[in-house]
Amino acid sequence: MAQETIAVIGGTGDLGYGLALRWAKAGETVIIGSRDPAKAQEAATHLKTALANATVSGLANADAAAQASIVVLAVPFAAQAAILKNIKGAMKDAILVDTTVPLATSVGGKPTRMLGVWEGSAGEAARDLVPGIQVVSAFHNVSAEVLQDLSSTPDCDVFVSGDDAAAKERVSALVKLIPGLRPLDAGPLEMARITESITALLISLNRRYKVHHSGIRITGLAE
Ligand SMILES: NC(=O)c1ccc[n+]([C@@H]2O[C@H](COP(=O)([O-])OP(=O)(O)OC[C@H]3O[C@@H](n4cnc5c(N)ncnc54)[C@H](OP(=O)(O)O)[C@@H]3O)[C@@H](O)[C@H]2O)c1
Repeated sequence: MAQETIAVIGGTGDLGYGLALRWAKAGETVIIGSRDPAKAQEAATHLKTALANATVSGLANADAAAQASIVVLAVPFAAQAAILKNIKGAMKDAILVDTTVPLATSVGGKPTRMLGVWEGSAGEAARDLVPGIQVVSAFHNVSAEVLQDLSSTPDCDVFVSGDDAAAKERVSALVKLIPGLRPLDAGPLEMARITESITALLISLNRRYKVHHSGIRITGLAE
């Protein structure tokens, strides 16, 4: 695969840091984005203490997005629109990977409930917020906790939804860089309506089975 420069917007947070760590481990160039550049640099320094050979830096979100070939958005749903408005002008021919799950926690509700999103899903809302940029929806069902623990191997399929086959292939290649994750082409971006809501189901299962890392596997597909 072509070497990508991956900006993780919200890479100081649970999912974003876990993805940054895994891609840095795979040898990719990673830029951690934050609303606060000092916080981003701190996270990059922390990552380098875990992986001395990592190619990682920390920048303000828009500066990170400006340098990337793939921009991964890993922020709470409540922050999605504001952050996309902040970075969209800086993105240059990059693919946007939206990981946002519109959980009801964004408005003080339960983490096992989804919010209704006018556009149909957070992924489709992202597409409307960044016209002209290819949006791929992925990584909603992966446990951040497992990603952050390099002694653990994730066990999860990653549904990749989007309207451009080439963009989905590039994102699927990033999924394959993380051992234990399998990318599955879930179809057009509107399938994010379903894949995002699986997260609420997994959170419910985590609670009932007292774990933090349930995932999802689809059977019956040819490899
Ligand atoms: N955690 C998981 O296991 C998991 C799994 C799959 C999908 N997701 C989805 O991935 C996204 C990120 O989840 P997360 O658990 O990583 O979130 P998080 O740790 O709560 O936040 C991620 C980052 O978002 C940034 N941010 C920007 N605006 C914010 C605001 N108004 N309030 C709070 N933080 C803000 C913060 O970075 P700065 O302060 O540095 O700007 C923060 O470090 C969510 O949409 C979530 O549903 C999470």
